[in-house]
Amino acid sequence: MRIALEERAARPAVSTLIQALIKRAEAHFSYEEHLMSDAEYEDSEAHHDEHQMLISTLYIMVSDLLVSAISDDNSVIGRYIEHWFIDHLEKDDAELSAFLLSR
Ligand SMILES: [Fe+2]
Repeated sequence: MRIALEERAARPAVSTLIQALIKRAEAHFSYEEHLMSDAEYEDSEAHHDEHQMLISTLYIMVSDLLVSAISDDNSVIGRYIEHWFIDHLEKDDAELSAFLLSR
């Protein structure tokens, strides 16, 4: 995905990549949310909201790409996705992991 985004790939190709990312993210988030529910994780609602925000933003990106309402500069999309995932992994998922391991 990074290569396509850095090489200014065509909008349909980038859109297809983001849709694939959405599918994988939804599956992963669903798994995490089952873990949070089973463990009665106290921050599950906020964590779920973070997941929903990412998925919603990715869907908006796909939509914007298809109507050319977003910059041709794919690095903007790449930076957003990378920044969001790193933030989520380092903060929210790390806290969830620590909670699950402490039980
Ligand atoms: Fe998460």
